[in-house]
Amino acid sequence: MRTFTTIMVTGGAGFIGGNFIRHILGKKEFEGRIVNVDVLTYAGNPLSLRDVEEAHGTKRYIFKRADIRDREAIDRIMDEYDVDCIVHFAAESHVDRSIYGPGDFVTTNVNGTFTLLESARTHWNGKEGKLFHHVSTDEVYGSLGDTGYFFEDTPYDPKSPYSASKAASDHLVRAWNHTYGLPVTLSNCSNNYGPYHFPEKLIPLMIANALDGKPLPVYGKGENVRDWLYVVDHAEAIWRIISRGRIGESYNVGGENEWKNIELVKRLCAVLARTTNRSEDEFLRLITFVQDRPGHDHRYAINCDRIKKELGWKQSVDFEKGLELTVRWYLDNQAWVEEVRSGEYSRWIEKNYGSR
Ligand code: NAD
Ligand code: DAU
Repeated sequence: MRTFTTIMVTGGAGFIGGNFIRHILGKKEFEGRIVNVDVLTYAGNPLSLRDVEEAHGTKRYIFKRADIRDREAIDRIMDEYDVDCIVHFAAESHVDRSIYGPGDFVTTNVNGTFTLLESARTHWNGKEGKLFHHVSTDEVYGSLGDTGYFFEDTPYDPKSPYSASKAASDHLVRAWNHTYGLPVTLSNCSNNYGPYHFPEKLIPLMIANALDGKPLPVYGKGENVRDWLYVVDHAEAIWRIISRGRIGESYNVGGENEWKNIELVKRLCAVLARTTNRSEDEFLRLITFVQDRPGHDHRYAINCDRIKKELGWKQSVDFEKGLELTVRWYLDNQAWVEEVRSGEYSRWIEKNYGSR
């Protein structure tokens, strides 16, 4: 098992990065410290890690506001903290925003990954015991019909500016391993859900809108299919890969839990009704079919046999339980929703969608 003294987590003020930090700081096998490097775009908020700051102080958790595209800043952090592992989450992550404005997706997801790879290569300079882990998505494989699965060797076929930028960054990571011998691992995961998910993505948007009595916008006919995984299960998968995964390898991670969007939204209405003691109809009647996403990928479905067989990972939270935990979390954390929805995000929504 590999052990690390200082893990640089990029994008740790976002949804999955923050859940990963909380998860591994709670593990007895991890005795090191985390340096969270995040520039705090609209999607990143230090509020999401206040409990971690309070629990661990600056001994085991350090926050550095920096842009992964800024080589000098990254070099300084690598030097100052003697980083021996990078877990790279930082990205522009929302497909809809990549359609409206792809520029930041290219500079952050591609150039930012390049900057981190170069900084790691220079600092580690072939020394043993280092690792660069790249957190990627199943969307790099493109879109499936009604049957079949994505495997680790499925050819890349990204369709949106977001997935194309993530595919490009995956290729850079593999090239740095192949050409320079940089020790890397990669993971390609399906749709995550759970606490601290930014309320622009399907599940948290539906919960937040439903609680406000606003329309629940379902794209097209709601027949697109996604495979949902509780975020803490993703965090555990990444922990296992950085600890014991094969260098140079990619691991697919998924929920084996496929849902048509419309069926998922209806199920969420049922969970909302149960949790708030209101009638299901009150929520169901908010469902509104809206214009489809341009180039909307029909279906994603992951085969994750590799990580199960090699690393003994499996999903631990079933969907009903995960949705309930998530709905309860949003009910108990409405101040967080208000906070992250204010500022830059609300201005962008107003400009692109009007009130929503
Ligand atoms: P998120 O949008 O919630 O968080 C992204 C974080 O990165 C934010 O805190 C943001 O401030 C930070 N960031 C953005 N640009 C930056 C820059 N230039 N420099 C430094 N920090 C920057 O995203 P997420 O949903 O947590 O996704 C994290 C990673 O996981 C991404 O790489 C994404 O592609 C991948 N992924 C996400 C999912 C999912 O379902 N959300 C599934 C598979 C893979
Ligand atoms: O598959 C992994 C990917 O999952 C990650 O790489 C991305 O970072 C993450 O955002 C997610 O991408 P999706 O586009 O699948 O997620 P999103 O929550 O935006 O949409 C899920 C589905 O719901 C998709 O088919 C579009 C649809 N949808 C979405 C929104 C925001 C709606 O019908 N209405 C909506 O308002």
